[in-house]
Amino acid sequence: MTTLPHDPWLLTPGPLTTSLKTKQAMLHDWGSRDANFIETNRRMRSEILAIAEAQDTHVCVPMQGSGTFAVEATIATLLPRDGKALILINGAYGQRMTKMLDYMDRAYMALETPEDTQPSLTDLDATLKADSAITHVLVVHCETTSGIINPIERVAEIVAKHDRSLLVDAMSAFGAIPLSARNVQFDAVMASSNKCLEGVPGMGFSIIRQSALERCKGNAHSLSLDMYEQWVTMEKTDQWRFTPPTHVIVAFDASISQFVEAGGVAGRNKRYSNNRQILVDGMREMGFETLLPDELQAPIIVTFKMPSDPAFDFQSFYDQLKDMGYIIYPGKLTVAPSFRIGCIGDLGEAEMKGALAAVQKTIDKMGVANGTAKAA
Ligand SMILES: Cc1ncc(COP(=O)(O)O)c(C=O)c1O
Repeated sequence: MTTLPHDPWLLTPGPLTTSLKTKQAMLHDWGSRDANFIETNRRMRSEILAIAEAQDTHVCVPMQGSGTFAVEATIATLLPRDGKALILINGAYGQRMTKMLDYMDRAYMALETPEDTQPSLTDLDATLKADSAITHVLVVHCETTSGIINPIERVAEIVAKHDRSLLVDAMSAFGAIPLSARNVQFDAVMASSNKCLEGVPGMGFSIIRQSALERCKGNAHSLSLDMYEQWVTMEKTDQWRFTPPTHVIVAFDASISQFVEAGGVAGRNKRYSNNRQILVDGMREMGFETLLPDELQAPIIVTFKMPSDPAFDFQSFYDQLKDMGYIIYPGKLTVAPSFRIGCIGDLGEAEMKGALAAVQKTIDKMGVANGTAKAA
């Protein structure tokens, strides 16, 4: 793994550590109408479709901004103004979709489960059966709030059985957790440049079923977030509608080619799963407890319960790890104090072991006997 000497390792769910090659790709300037840039943009879009095995059925529509922009734009475009969404919520990113729908003034209902619990498939089935007004189901693939993996295949089967449309926020899973359009029926999957494909932040994208998108003219409430217009313009002119994030795109193109060379989804899944294993085993040895049982834990980010030892102070823990070159992430749970450590980015065994050694050093210095969350 190569990085610049002064960069700390980002054990966070994005922005994350990128390779030197990816950073170096940004050392040039491109005109947005330049043939080389247009070719790069085409290749990026087609590689993204290939990752989801969606070339025959879907199109890739990129969107400037962070991942949230792509999620909001996709919902705004695919959900008709008189449609109704059912949102499966088990964390902050499911919650965020309700806020988007409030802003857009679209009808929705939610099925919520606790942050450490997958959505109830029985409730999903019963709700779709009972409410024929629901047109779309919205779900998060890996809820980054906790790191839980949601059962997308099962959700998709139920949604398809009821003949509704499925939109998946796969922001933190795409590229590392398999999701193929050949065996999962979805109308849209949203993700961004700076998660498991290890690009830099600045753009999101959506893989949208072409036959569904063709019917979406005029749905969006927002000019800049209209994925239909973004797609039509790009297909017609090879241009982005508004200034493209050129450096982000060339870096993304470079990171995708490294992704392909490293074995695609299977390769990434293997490296991240290994990172997770090293992390979880090492933290457990020090007494730390994971929020999730192993079978629900995605190889993306791990939530640890806050230790109960009064000598443990999270801010000081964070600062000391940072001084040793490792940046971790605060918790986002509403139910219990916690912190998170990511497994994604240009990181491998050496970095995970280095982070564990830094954690051990820090708790020793703090006088924390072990990381257990249970009160003595
Ligand atoms: C599942 C999920 N959805 C949406 C987002 C929002 O992405 P962004 O912060 O890039 O807007 C994130 C960010 O981590 C995420 O993990």
